[in-house]
Amino acid sequence: MCGIVGYIGNREAQGILIGGLKRLEYRGYDSAGVATLNSTGELTNIRAQGKVAQLAELQVKNRKTDSIGIGHTRWATHGAPSVKNAHPHTVGRITLVHNGIIENYQDLKHILVDKGYEFQSDTDTEVLAGLIDSLYSDDTNLLDAVLGALRLVVGAYGLAVIAHDTPDQIIVARSGSPLIIGLDDEETFIASDASALIGHTDQVLYLKEGEVAVCKAGDVQLYDIKANPLSAAVETLEADMQAIQKEGYEHFLLKEIHEQPDTLRATLAGRLHLDTMTASLGGINMTAEELRAVKNIVIVGCGTANYAGQLASYFIEQFTDDISVRVEIASELRYRSFHVADNTVALIVSQSGETADTLACLGELKRRGVRCLGIVNAVGSSIAREVDGGVYVHVGPEISVASSKAFTSQVAAMVLFGLVVAQAKGIGAKELAEYVQELDRLPFEIEKVINTVEDSVAHLAKEYASYEHALYMGRDTLYPVALEGALKLKEISYIQAEGHAAGELKHGPIALVDDSFFEVALIADNWLYEKSLSNLIEVNARGGHVIAITNSQKPIEAEAVVQLNTDLTVFVPLLFNVVLQLFAYYVSLERGNDVDQPRNLAKSVTVE
Ligand code: AGP
Repeated sequence: MCGIVGYIGNREAQGILIGGLKRLEYRGYDSAGVATLNSTGELTNIRAQGKVAQLAELQVKNRKTDSIGIGHTRWATHGAPSVKNAHPHTVGRITLVHNGIIENYQDLKHILVDKGYEFQSDTDTEVLAGLIDSLYSDDTNLLDAVLGALRLVVGAYGLAVIAHDTPDQIIVARSGSPLIIGLDDEETFIASDASALIGHTDQVLYLKEGEVAVCKAGDVQLYDIKANPLSAAVETLEADMQAIQKEGYEHFLLKEIHEQPDTLRATLAGRLHLDTMTASLGGINMTAEELRAVKNIVIVGCGTANYAGQLASYFIEQFTDDISVRVEIASELRYRSFHVADNTVALIVSQSGETADTLACLGELKRRGVRCLGIVNAVGSSIAREVDGGVYVHVGPEISVASSKAFTSQVAAMVLFGLVVAQAKGIGAKELAEYVQELDRLPFEIEKVINTVEDSVAHLAKEYASYEHALYMGRDTLYPVALEGALKLKEISYIQAEGHAAGELKHGPIALVDDSFFEVALIADNWLYEKSLSNLIEVNARGGHVIAITNSQKPIEAEAVVQLNTDLTVFVPLLFNVVLQLFAYYVSLERGNDVDQPRNLAKSVTVE
């Protein structure tokens, strides 16, 4: 999620702004910038793609003593990550930073271009700067120009605006994207979340929806959208950094499970087109002809990333009829004398982009001349830099060691790749539309699952938290979900949990069923329903303690049943997975473990 900072006071703004952006790095971004004004209105705008550290290096070469400025960390929505698309954006005398999406920016852009405006970036934000500039004149002050522009805008915004000829104020406005103002005797601080204010002031003012503020050094005046003055309620900020970054959740894992609808929307943003019922990916650097020629896909990853690949492999083979997909554990593949068929593309899956085994496989595959595409979260990471192209999943930093939102978006990103390949290979429009529509609805369905099952799953977790052994089972696309669900449980609850293909139980694992185990049976309402049910009955018959998770409305005999109500059919495994994430979280909580930093584990395994 993008981050906003602003400062006006009696100290050097650049350092304060960059320090604030560092505090907001956890929100995820792919570029950053700071703009300051000196007392004569001379603007210094420094922008960089990649980390805030790179911005800091540029600032050293462009050091100014200006005492007013704004800054931004951008997480690409309109326009790819690049310097030209990085905020702050300047048009005419206006420079601004913006969180949110201006939905009618194309219409506004046409109007401004007709007025002679020229735009350098692909962003909606630059258009907003142009709109304000077009209204800012000798007899329309900055506040009125901003208010006039906001009355024309459709969409969500949190923004901070400066004008080159009024270097004594920053105008901020909120509609759908939070902004907080920190006050000191002679200084005023602006931020999109309080973590950037800690250490500067604890006197804060939370901008409310529809409010606009004129911020001067140590002074703020609030207005509504009609320019009516409003009273300001200053509060005392009582929170530490981590508490703020968890946004009220007890653990990062729970926050990251809950933010999946939004992070999945971010993964899909600009890549699903409901007007044409198609999918597109900007960064894979493959022509339609090259996509058509793909006959083999090898997916490489570790742990959760590997299981995401396993789940995606079912979907990719479903979308196409001439591609075979194989999924490899990176630590195995790197030492095996494996063969790579012609017309193979490799998908290198990694949240951190730094996993040593995965990175090593990438190197070996490239040495063999295989085209490698990254399915990565961390922008600018080693894997992201070494692949031939790829898809950033854009879920923001995943703080909890146990992966949650990354898994869902890794699968979605590989599904998008599968659809793009299928499109090149001539998939029927009706079938394609069904996939696009389901994918578009998936964030909402995840939200619905979380809202409907969380309490019952938390209660269930208490009942099963004392077990030391568990078997997870699923068929078809629920098999990789069983693997991932078992991994989630074992890595944060320390219960010995194993995932199995449900059809495999009678080939050995069912010997384990006794009172020291509980079982999780994943039962999809599809053509394998009866077979999945019979596996559950086999376990029940041996005295198993079975938790059935199902999207079927038919009654199921089990010790506990978690019912999913959804009319999704294709991507429903990702809903089952959310239930298992929540179950693992609440079991770990019940067992008193360190949920976010489980024993023996690291977030990124950068060594073998
Ligand atoms: C997932 O919950 C684990 N923390 C672990 O399996 C992780 O998925 C694996 O180490 C791969 O990490 P990566 O995605 O950063 O490459």
